Amino acid sequence: MARTLIAGNWKMNGLRASLVEITAIAGGVTPAKENVEALICVPATLLMQAADQARESALNIGGETCHTNEKGAHTGDVSAEMLADAGASYVIVGHSERRADHDETSEIVASQAAAALRAGITPIICVGETAAERDSGKAIEVVTGMLRDSLPEGASAESVVIAYEPVWAIGTGNVATVEAVDEMHNALRSCLADVYGAAADLIPILYGGSMKPDNAGDLLAVKNVNGGLIGGASLKATDFLAIYAKA
Ligand code: 13P
Repeated sequence: MARTLIAGNWKMNGLRASLVEITAIAGGVTPAKENVEALICVPATLLMQAADQARESALNIGGETCHTNEKGAHTGDVSAEMLADAGASYVIVGHSERRADHDETSEIVASQAAAALRAGITPIICVGETAAERDSGKAIEVVTGMLRDSLPEGASAESVVIAYEPVWAIGTGNVATVEAVDEMHNALRSCLADVYGAAADLIPILYGGSMKPDNAGDLLAVKNVNGGLIGGASLKATDFLAIYAKA
């Protein structure tokens, strides 16, 4: 069975004053629950301090993207090695906002995930369909194709996390139905089994898209849902911890 991962994604939100939320979350997830991990992915500017504040707790800190290279002439970019050095143990790759704003293709995402593994941190590989793709009945085909193309070569099942985030559910309050999530997560699990065999059962598949304290219980109860990737509701410790409590 896969472990459960309750992960926050702060996106481009948070100043140093917001780090009080990290301290509150770190306090709320300690002592750790068995087989349930907590993670907050923060902007690069906050990473070192967030990691310092979380050090004595069960809270993991992660980055939100990384470059494919270890170092070099890439002004403004941050490598996976830099994230690891700053205290990150996870990094989100292929978020739909990165795919849309920075033209990150699944091929690039696979290289970013490989870079994370090279640096010794766990990539959370995001996939998800647009509203138009769902309306045309192609959601499963699109998302499983994205997953296949975004997996790094040579990874083991123990070293990756997948997040299904329907684009139309992100930041909209339009959460996917339990039936749609069940169907998609089953399809993703079979797709992972084609690549990793029986070990695919160890890979956490997170759901993301308007997950809140009031809908988290139903979503987390779905068979192949092994946690959440939470945007808006991860910015406040009380909301994040209320979701963590349902896991
Ligand atoms: P919301 O929870 O704000 O919809 O964001 C989801 C998301 O994009 C997490 O990566």
